[in-house]
Amino acid sequence: MSFAVNFNQVCKNFGDFKAVQNINLTVKKGELFTLLGPSGCGKTTLLRMIAGFNPIDSGEISFDDKVINNIPAHKRNIGMVFQNYAIFPHMTVFDNVAYGLKARGISKDEINKRVNETLAMVRMEGLEDRSPQQLSGGQQQRVALARAIVIEPDVLLMDEPLSNLDAKLRVEMRTTIKKLQESLGITTIYVTHDQEEALAISDRIGVMKGGILQQIDTPEEIYRCPANDFVADFIGTSNFIESELIESNGDICLNILDSEIPVVLKEEYIGKVRTSLRPEHVYLTDSEESTLKGEIQLVTFLGDYTNYEILLGNGQIIQANEYTKDMIDFRSVGDKVGIRIYSDRINLFGESGEVALI
Ligand SMILES: Nc1ncnc2c1ncn2[C@@H]1O[C@H](COP(=O)(O)OP(=O)(O)O)[C@@H](O)[C@H]1O
Ligand SMILES: [Mg+2]
Repeated sequence: MSFAVNFNQVCKNFGDFKAVQNINLTVKKGELFTLLGPSGCGKTTLLRMIAGFNPIDSGEISFDDKVINNIPAHKRNIGMVFQNYAIFPHMTVFDNVAYGLKARGISKDEINKRVNETLAMVRMEGLEDRSPQQLSGGQQQRVALARAIVIEPDVLLMDEPLSNLDAKLRVEMRTTIKKLQESLGITTIYVTHDQEEALAISDRIGVMKGGILQQIDTPEEIYRCPANDFVADFIGTSNFIESELIESNGDICLNILDSEIPVVLKEEYIGKVRTSLRPEHVYLTDSEESTLKGEIQLVTFLGDYTNYEILLGNGQIIQANEYTKDMIDFRSVGDKVGIRIYSDRINLFGESGEVALI
């Protein structure tokens, strides 16, 4: 049985320090929801509150309609996977996975069946008798995953489960987790500081900073329409350019690097703003074709695309990406280029960066 997880004004303080502040959120039944944010922003604290390891200072967490604040950890039927595997070193793979079932007094035959089925799901069949020391990091994490799901948890919590794996294994394991989660339909709350991992794996993401949820949305929306400059900076790469909204012949225009681009805003705003622009939305042209110009300072070829650092007239350096499949000529250091910016490919924030204007 899977539940929706509701957070209503959830807070956690350590002394005077506000680790988690006023979280309001519904993680839908069967969803893979990721809490994403830099180290120290309160992700683990919030996860431990769901698990019952940290008391909830104020507010409520509920599974569907049932408030769980006062239900002890061992009665919450939660599966957990941690960064450091936390599998028992003195037990075989089989016994590690069987542990939670034995504790629930399930019959031996049923335990055999469920452990074997679950080990097959994580592609660990045939390794039942190994001890954890005889397994690679990736295999140990598969055992940890099997142990968490074999109990058929109502909610699965994962705290940076891939951090200790090398890059290739991380990609492989995140695919395993996503497929398994989808096929089992377990409501899953996944914690990471790795934005690429979050984009790849999640149905929705909650971006956290300083104990506060900054934005809750699908990966695509968070990338395309970040709610503030923190999110724009943390997810993917953004160029930030100081610019100004002005009125020009009755239209609102963005004055950016001495170019005027008409823009349509959510609400009226005149004055200094921060424009953020993804490197793939900085379009390079011949230098004669554009009033906006720069000079290439660094070329980094990355296989499927090339990243350029471009020095603008105002002394600022911005990044531009060109995809190999779209490239006509290779550009070189010292080349003068024109730059084209489209109003529907930028994000605009108020001067302090906290409000999205577009
Ligand atoms: N038991 C604790 N006592 C005091 N401060 C804590 C405790 N646990 C976490 N913190 C603080 O709360 C903040 C959030 O920590 P944490 O939730 O572990 O962050 P994250 O998982 O996002 O890296 C950090 O500043 C951390 O030092
Ligand atoms: Mg943490």
